[in-house]
Amino acid sequence: ARRIWLTRHGQSEFNLVERIGGDSNLAPAGEVYARCLPDMLIGRLPLTDDEQCVPVSVWTSTLRRTIQTARYLPFPKLRWKALDEIQAGTCDGLTYEDIARQSPDEFAARSKDKLRYRYPAGESYMDVIQRLEPVIIEMEREKECIVVVGHQAVLRAILGYFMAKPLASIPTLDVPLHTLIELRPRPDGTMDFDYIPLP
Ligand code: F6P
Repeated sequence: ARRIWLTRHGQSEFNLVERIGGDSNLAPAGEVYARCLPDMLIGRLPLTDDEQCVPVSVWTSTLRRTIQTARYLPFPKLRWKALDEIQAGTCDGLTYEDIARQSPDEFAARSKDKLRYRYPAGESYMDVIQRLEPVIIEMEREKECIVVVGHQAVLRAILGYFMAKPLASIPTLDVPLHTLIELRPRPDGTMDFDYIPLP
């Protein structure tokens, strides 16, 4: 793609109470981010040779919080199941504190090897990286600009891929809320990137 923007969904009701997973709606601050996103983006769109704005497509997951975050963007949208957040299985809906208390062994195992740790009946980062392969192939093939409105673990995997980060660093890459990440391909095939915070 000519240019790629990555953003997490705006703050969700689950983010507010620090619960993982689920399919909650945006919290008020997340709704503010959704409303600001078009302006954050539109000023950064490259122009074609005849000074037209280049075409943009917006990819979301199938979860409410990404669809709600994308809803004010005036571009065609595509929903990918493969962009859904890491499945936390039996831990879905819990806080990290709940997990540490209820399942200290699971909590310790994840701290020890966050890349390979698989939630019971859920996924690992390695699983997420694997299921994202078709999305990444399409991102590389796409001629237009792409905005991906995703989730923390999924965007760590995508950012790690495009920035050629070591696998082991992917589960802790910095992908903050309310921040647009801009990726610009360089002629040599590597990427330049910027973090653009909510003004
Ligand atoms: O807390 C938000 C969230 O997207 C959760 O739904 C998800 O389980 C988590 O982040 C992934 O981040 P980490 O791998 O650091 O737990």
